[in-house]
Amino acid sequence: MATITSPHSLLLQNPNRHHLKSSISTSHFNALPLPSPSPSPKRFSISCSAASTTSPLELQNPPPSHSSSNDRVFNFAAGPATLPESVLKKAESELINWRGSGMSVMEMSHRGKDFTSIIQKAESDLRSLLDIPSDYAVLFLQGGATTQFAAIPLNLCKPDDTVDYVVTGSWGDKAFKEAQKYCKPKVIWSGKADKYTKIPAFEDLEQSPNAKYLHICANETIHGVEFKNYPNPKNLLVADMSSNFCSKPVDISKFGIIYAGAQKNVGPSGVTIVIIRKDLIGGAQDITPVMLDYKIHHENNSLYNTPPCYGIYMCGLVFEDLLQQGGLKEVEKKNKKKADILYEAIDQSNGFYRCPVERSVRSLMNVPFTLEKAELEGEFIKEAAKEKMVQLKGHRSVGGMRASIYNAMPLAGVEKLVAFMKDFQARHA
Ligand SMILES: Cc1ncc(COP(=O)(O)O)c(C=O)c1O
Repeated sequence: MATITSPHSLLLQNPNRHHLKSSISTSHFNALPLPSPSPSPKRFSISCSAASTTSPLELQNPPPSHSSSNDRVFNFAAGPATLPESVLKKAESELINWRGSGMSVMEMSHRGKDFTSIIQKAESDLRSLLDIPSDYAVLFLQGGATTQFAAIPLNLCKPDDTVDYVVTGSWGDKAFKEAQKYCKPKVIWSGKADKYTKIPAFEDLEQSPNAKYLHICANETIHGVEFKNYPNPKNLLVADMSSNFCSKPVDISKFGIIYAGAQKNVGPSGVTIVIIRKDLIGGAQDITPVMLDYKIHHENNSLYNTPPCYGIYMCGLVFEDLLQQGGLKEVEKKNKKKADILYEAIDQSNGFYRCPVERSVRSLMNVPFTLEKAELEGEFIKEAAKEKMVQLKGHRSVGGMRASIYNAMPLAGVEKLVAFMKDFQARHA
């Protein structure tokens, strides 16, 4: 801890902390190799836009990139969330000319060979990362996890089928409510009375006879409760993994469907990933919109309509980065370390900070906490922002603070937050 670059020691030693320049080591920005510069696309003399306001000089000398690592903040947002800087830099280097193709990924045909190679590589890297068995399909879809709340009952049930929902937070509740339109869902356990701070003991769960599936939200982003292992239902287990996807290894074979919005751990918003056992594809209700029918997307390799090409490309870069870090076991170790130091700071604050979540199910990704003196919360958030730590406000439905510390949040970011919390406490206790 006593290294010279420790933000912790600096914050504690420097009375002038508001002017503290971030001295965080940037070595955490793991090095995804940057490609060698691609040959620049040929310039043609044909002018094709009468309305263009760009001067020829600007085209030859594009304005320099204004961003540098030092300008970046530690972004604790719950999603869209921070992305690995190495990935952003790689994307920047390929932005206008992807690997000599002469165009950006944003401009490519989704049916051309270049994009085909991008989506295939993304899928194959995701398969390696999560060790996805061959009897599971991977779909890159749109509409967010919210759309899956409807797609799942539509694809797995008939209108009179019963399904079970374990509701450990707001997202599970939303999933349950949406399912009411398409089948007969039942909440077999809810943590609402305890303000969503618990996960049930699996042996206490009374599943409905003939329920088609059991739905869980593996990590409740707002409340910060995370399943540490998974129930073994009589039928199928379906999980919303939006906010802990690819944060640790998962035994895919335990699940019928796993789905996740990309914008927390693996990319920008706009991409939703569905991992589904292949024998569950093909039974959609007749009313199912074509865009929600897994069979259509599976048969068309996620290219039935125009997919979110750039988002898929970004996910692919993140998957490469996670593989280069040594895979999800290594990623999990880093995530545990970050969460440990943050929860420890909360627990050792003599009640100045509190985390309401039962210890054994505290999320490694989203850490909610309150201040004993609630009137100081605004000040905490304001001062943290001055120190370049942003998006620490808790969800509007629960208040307090929340630090989302997904894969791409560097250890240095969490160390800096912890140092700030201690310093803030020393001044306000
Ligand atoms: C666990 C969980 N499920 C579902 C959603 C909804 O995702 P989207 O906004 O992409 O539809 C979120 C969004 O934050 C989430 O955290």
